Amino acid sequence: PLVVHVVGTRPNFMKVAPVMRACAARGLEQRLVHTGQHYDARMSDVFFEDLGLPPPDLHLGVGSGSHAAMTARCMLAFEEALGRLPPPDWVVVPGDVNSTLAAALVAVKAGIRVAHLEAGLRSFDRTMPEELNRVATDHLADLLLTPSPDADRNLAREGIPAARVARVGNVMIDSLLASLPAARAREVPERLGLARGGYAVLTLHRPSNVDDPAVLARLLSALARVAARVPVVFPVHPRTRARLEVPGLAGLAGALRLVEPQGYLDFLSLTSGAALLLTDSGGLQEEATGLGVPCLTLRENTERPITVDEGTNTVVGTDPVAIVREAEAALDGRGKRGRRPELWDGRAAERVVDALLR
Ligand code: UD1
Repeated sequence: PLVVHVVGTRPNFMKVAPVMRACAARGLEQRLVHTGQHYDARMSDVFFEDLGLPPPDLHLGVGSGSHAAMTARCMLAFEEALGRLPPPDWVVVPGDVNSTLAAALVAVKAGIRVAHLEAGLRSFDRTMPEELNRVATDHLADLLLTPSPDADRNLAREGIPAARVARVGNVMIDSLLASLPAARAREVPERLGLARGGYAVLTLHRPSNVDDPAVLARLLSALARVAARVPVVFPVHPRTRARLEVPGLAGLAGALRLVEPQGYLDFLSLTSGAALLLTDSGGLQEEATGLGVPCLTLRENTERPITVDEGTNTVVGTDPVAIVREAEAALDGRGKRGRRPELWDGRAAERVVDALLR
C-alpha cells in the first residue's frame, strides 16, 4: 500500500516523523508532501534534519497569506500533486493547521481514504482557526487516530461512528522520547549560561494573544514579573516578532531573554532543563506533560484537557495576577508533577500503522 503524508507547518513535523519510521519498518511505500505553509529554514528545514525526515517528495510552495488564500492555494496545488503520484491507499494529515484541512478535503473528494492524526481534540472555542480546521477535518476523514479518551468522547458526541476511530496515543511523545538523549547532548541551557532547573521557557504566537497590542502588553508585563525571579527564555515566532516592533512593546519584552525560533532538538534541550514552561502553543502543553515539567497555558481554554487532568498543565488565561501567582507556585516547587497518560508511551506510531493496515 502507498501512504501519502502531508505536512505544512512546524507542529506537523514531529508528528509525522515517527509515523514515517513505523511505516518504513513495516515495508509500506510512502511519499511526503510539504505544502510550504511554513517556509523559513528555522520553521521548517531544521526540523527535517533534527527529526531525520526524508526531504519532501513534493514541495507545493504555498507560503503565507490570509486563511482563505493559504487554504485555497494548498488545495489547488495538492490536487495537482495527487495527479502526479501513483494512486495512494491513504492520505495522512496531522494536526489542525490550514494545510491539514486543505489536503483532507482534496483527498476525500478524489476518493482517497484520509486518516487524521491527532483527531478529536476540541477547545470548543470557535474563534480559534485551528478549532474549525479540527472539526471539519474530523468529519471528512475515514480514519480518526486519537491521542486520548476525551478525543474519543468528543467524536462520539458529534455522531462519528466508533468504527472510524482508533485510539493510538500521542505520536508527539514518540518523537520526544526518541529525541531526548540527543536533545540533552545539545546542552543549550549551558550554552546560554542557564542553570538546569533555574529558568523558564516562554512561547507566544496565537493571534488572540499577540495581534492586539493591549493584550500583548498585559501579558508581557506579567511575564516581566516572572523574569524578575528567574531568566525567561523566549524563542520568538515570526508572527510575534513582527508584533513586537513597536517601541512600548519592545521595551516590555526587554525583560525577557529573546532568542530566535529554535530547532527541534535545541528547543527540547531547553524545555527539558526548565523549571517552568509558559505557552499558548498546543503541542508544548503535551511535551511539558511528557517531560514532567510544570506548564502554564496562557489561554482561556485547551483542546488537550488530559494534560490538565493527568499531566503538568494549568490553564491560567491572560490575567496577569493569575499568571504571576501560578508561576511563583511552580518556581517554589509547588508546580504540578503529573504523569504521562496511557498510550503516551513512545509507541503510538506503531499503532497508527496497525490501524492503517486493518
Ligand atoms: C500556524 C498555524 C498554527 C500553528 C503555527 C505554528 C494555521 C491556521 N495556524 O500559525 O496552528 O500553531 O502555525 O507555528 O494553520 N511566517 C514566517 N515564516 C514562516 C511561516 C510564517 O515568517 O515559515 C510569518 C508569516 O509571514 C506571518 C506569520 O509568520 O506573518 C504567521 O504565519 P501563519 O502561517 O499565518 O500562521 P502561524 O501563526 O504560523
